[in-house]
Amino acid sequence: MIIPKPLVEQAQDGDFSFADELSVYLAFQKDPGYSFFVADELSQRLRVATGCFVTIRDGDPGDAHGVIVLTDSDTPDDLGEEGYTITVTPDRITLSASHNAGLFYAGQSFDQLLHHQRSTQNTTAGRNGESTIPSLPCVTIQDKPRFGWRGFMLDSARHFQSTELIVQLIDQLAALKLNRLHWHLTDDQGWRLEILGYPKLTSVGAWRSNGQSNPEDGTGRATREQGGRDRGRYGGYYTQEQVREIVAYAKHRQVTIIPEIDIPSHNLAALAAYPQLACHDGPFEVASEWGLLDGVYCAGQDKTFTFLQNVLTEVARLFPDAPIHLGGDERKPGTWDSCPRCNALRERQGLSDEPALQKWFMDQVAGHIHTTLGRRSITWGDNIDAGGIDGTPGSPGSPGMIIQGWVDGQAGKSAQQGLDTINSTNDWVYFDYPQTPKEHEASYPDWMKTLSTEKVYQFDPIPQGLDPQFHHHILGSEAHLWTEFVPDEAQLYHQIMPRLFAFSEALWSPIAHRDYEDFTRRLSIQQPLVHPKSPA
Ligand code: ACM
Ligand code: ZN
Repeated sequence: MIIPKPLVEQAQDGDFSFADELSVYLAFQKDPGYSFFVADELSQRLRVATGCFVTIRDGDPGDAHGVIVLTDSDTPDDLGEEGYTITVTPDRITLSASHNAGLFYAGQSFDQLLHHQRSTQNTTAGRNGESTIPSLPCVTIQDKPRFGWRGFMLDSARHFQSTELIVQLIDQLAALKLNRLHWHLTDDQGWRLEILGYPKLTSVGAWRSNGQSNPEDGTGRATREQGGRDRGRYGGYYTQEQVREIVAYAKHRQVTIIPEIDIPSHNLAALAAYPQLACHDGPFEVASEWGLLDGVYCAGQDKTFTFLQNVLTEVARLFPDAPIHLGGDERKPGTWDSCPRCNALRERQGLSDEPALQKWFMDQVAGHIHTTLGRRSITWGDNIDAGGIDGTPGSPGSPGMIIQGWVDGQAGKSAQQGLDTINSTNDWVYFDYPQTPKEHEASYPDWMKTLSTEKVYQFDPIPQGLDPQFHHHILGSEAHLWTEFVPDEAQLYHQIMPRLFAFSEALWSPIAHRDYEDFTRRLSIQQPLVHPKSPA
């Protein structure tokens, strides 16, 4: 019934009947405050689904009948931090986990059980005439994920999303037990994060001309005063206060938000604000077109690195528990070759070509993240392809750096070198691609591939042929939504649904348990569970 499919779900005889009043007991010693949060959310859903009057009570219920218990006793050790059990007997309902994440996921699964019951069983009229369920069939569930890194990447640079939409998306991720939101906050087309030390990044870099050259933007809707179209320009940004709120909201729902500040390329927006960071005199404009553009930071001057260190220090404060993504993809060749400062640096450092300079550049900045900020960094697999990140001891960027493969072959190559790796190979997880050939033909660029829900469902993050001794370096995956052609909320949901459901199961459930037909049956019931607001 549940998506992603639990490790073990066994129907049992009998039903748990809902009386008019229902008590939810908190016997979760590890973190009573957090268990109250889970119980409170659960209570709201129970009220709607059952029509019961629900009360949350502290402590062990003893022999009480007809109650719900949240507990951290008796959870099998091998379920890990995200694992949980649910037991529904005629007597009581027990949600059990050894850690907060597991308890939260027990709550999400229980919510789906309620939803399934409401969708498929005869309901009775509740007090206010709404349909409610009188009982829940007995069941035992034991669950834990296959991969720990289950993410979604959202590009807020090419098109800007309202904070309301981001929050709604976090709810969607949490309901599917996805635990990372990788937030692509900077690119040629917009800088979206307020940085106090460099106010022009957003006063200048967050806005682009909404001119004829970029007709897609005509549909970008203004969703709050900072976002959308405004006097012929398009853009928006997130204030630090908004970001802190979003990060805290996500954390409660077991979602870690990973900021991406893309270097050394994809930076026309930053250069429009601070042209002195470039190799050549500007002027630069925030891009109103897509593609491989000229926004490359100059590697041959100290002020570039001072700027990046200051920016990343602010970023690290805003995202206190997260690794920091440094991008590193798609540098347009030639910019550094034609810069006297970059050439002088190459001479001094003995760097033979631009890829060697890129490795040096990434190492400088990653070194700051590891050494000064005490975080892990992440970079795109381009750095592996260029022979860039080699895990060499003494290379300041390498210890702890995570590689995110997006081109076929990068993830395997990275894991084979003993580097922790996220496998986001585009053929399997790029949700900006169309879902059917017909859709592709009608309205998507030729260079995109077609990615069906079934193909996403069949995805195995372990690259074919990877020696088993390196499998543990594949941390998991992230599905990606680049938003060049995703101007609004309706299009966003069109791109991610229902592929996000398939992706969650591909990351959570063992391959041997996967069955696409069975998945589509469950999907037809659960899909309305997490639904977008209908577009205005
Ligand atoms: C990417 O798709 N440029 C990471
Ligand atoms: Zn330069």
